[in-house]
Amino acid sequence: MASIDDDKKAAAIAAVAEVQDGMLVGLGTGSTAAFAIQALGDRVAQGLQIRAVVTSEASGKLARELGIEILDFATIAHVDLTIDGADEIDSRCFAIKGAGGAMLREKIVAAASARMVVIADSSKRVDRIGAAKLPVEVLPFAIAYVMHVLTDMAAAPKIRDNYRTDQGNLVIDCHFATLDDPRATAATLAAIPGILGHGLFLDEVDAAYIATDGVVTRLER
Ligand code: A5P
Repeated sequence: MASIDDDKKAAAIAAVAEVQDGMLVGLGTGSTAAFAIQALGDRVAQGLQIRAVVTSEASGKLARELGIEILDFATIAHVDLTIDGADEIDSRCFAIKGAGGAMLREKIVAAASARMVVIADSSKRVDRIGAAKLPVEVLPFAIAYVMHVLTDMAAAPKIRDNYRTDQGNLVIDCHFATLDDPRATAATLAAIPGILGHGLFLDEVDAAYIATDGVVTRLER
């Protein structure tokens, strides 16, 4: 029986097989994305010619150590393929992301990408997203106001302890009793002044590679 790490690695290797010479690749954040960065580094060592942009300082450090050329995303408007993890993914390719706190940069890079694939072990595969904590990135100036609004929304908001994002902002983890209408929730969160981004990915994910006991299945939107 494969371990969770074996499955993360198997999903990562399957997704990295999509990468071709000349591509600009978006690199996600988290433990599963790290397996993809490792697999991509192995292919670069074997001669694959690609460049990449990263969604976090941690992923940038790992990628550079592996010899992957990293471009400054501030100079980039178009990415060919982004590979990233998720906290939950369902059959609609709706995802919750951001347990690692990088969801703002992750969503920007995903939005700039012609194709975005999620990689995951089977524990992330759900019928309908909504059980995982839904993180929002908040400007510190607005933290009291945003906590008040989220409390009124019955979002059970909790400020993440001793945590700042790569941009120096705070994260509030929400837990909605039900997420029957994720689009309505996404729109409501996006409209709250002080919230800079949230972990609902409803339009970004094109496909997912999910590994169960070493067997990888691909889900296409
Ligand atoms: C990072 O902010 C997240 O969106 C991760 O992609 C997500 O939390 C999955 O992380 P793991 O692969 O570590 O579970």
